[in-house]
Amino acid sequence: MSARPVVVVTRRLPEPVHEALAREFDARLNPEDRPLTVDGLKEALRSADALLTTVTDKVTDEVLATEPRRAKLVANFGVGFNNIDIEAAKARGIAVSNTPDVLTDATADLAMTLLLMTARRTGEGERHLRSGQWTGWRPTHMLGTHVTGKTLGLIGMGRIARAVAQRAHHGFGMKVIFHDPFPPAPDVAKALGAEPRDSLEEVLKEAHFVSLHCPATPETRHLMNRERLALMRPEAFLINTARGDVVDEAALVEALQARRIAGAGLDVYEKEPEVTPALVAMDNVVLLPHLGSATRETRVAMGLRAFENLQLFFSGKPLRDRVV
Ligand code: 8YV
Repeated sequence: MSARPVVVVTRRLPEPVHEALAREFDARLNPEDRPLTVDGLKEALRSADALLTTVTDKVTDEVLATEPRRAKLVANFGVGFNNIDIEAAKARGIAVSNTPDVLTDATADLAMTLLLMTARRTGEGERHLRSGQWTGWRPTHMLGTHVTGKTLGLIGMGRIARAVAQRAHHGFGMKVIFHDPFPPAPDVAKALGAEPRDSLEEVLKEAHFVSLHCPATPETRHLMNRERLALMRPEAFLINTARGDVVDEAALVEALQARRIAGAGLDVYEKEPEVTPALVAMDNVVLLPHLGSATRETRVAMGLRAFENLQLFFSGKPLRDRVV
């Protein structure tokens, strides 16, 4: 029997990550990419020394309570770890790690993609052309919204929001404002061309584009509710590359249907992979299937970062990205 630590890898990962994991550990890979059931996760906790999980694994208190548990580390593939009950892990002495930094640029790029797509109606334009409806150029065809000179409001000013500010201000000539209860140092914000606002509400009232960059916690659940959506300008767009439950999806549909806001660009949803059908029916909404970090380079880097955390853990060293 192998003395190498047993690691259950819950989803298929890029090949270089599989190679690293298989070299170092008794890695139980999932080449067929079948999501684990609740019982599968419990079984993994009972039979492995660590789990490498993703956003699709709901690591709840009930799952973590399985006995006799062997696993001592849950290495999450992703910067967000709202799929794991952190308090329950802490209470049971189970370490949790994530993969920050390496996905910052890819996610910021995707937020800008959604911003530009909503402003310039590119999803709508593509559908128009592909369905054979395009009759030719005309001066008033599918006019969108100018981005340069407009105000981008960032909700949260962590790593990803800062990378968005950098792109929006220095690349697209946008004015950037933000609110974060733990703001960066004034010189950091200044270098990004980003101005703080004392409240979330001020950002919502002022911005032409509101982009969400806060983690999903009980405090941020439905942060964008009916009242806050009503504060946005009628010509404003909402961009969400954070987590679906930061937005009350039903309230968003209502605001869009009543034309209280101009549109939305969404990469994440309250009940992924379910998307509220009313959103799918709207042309002023851009919908992507949770692609924030989906570049080959980034997904390899995320996997190798999770691998590094596993290595550190099994060699008794402090984790690089310890969540609890
Ligand atoms: C991940 C993400 O790819 O890292 C995150 O928080 O949202 C994604 O881009 C996804 O969560 C997979 O675990």
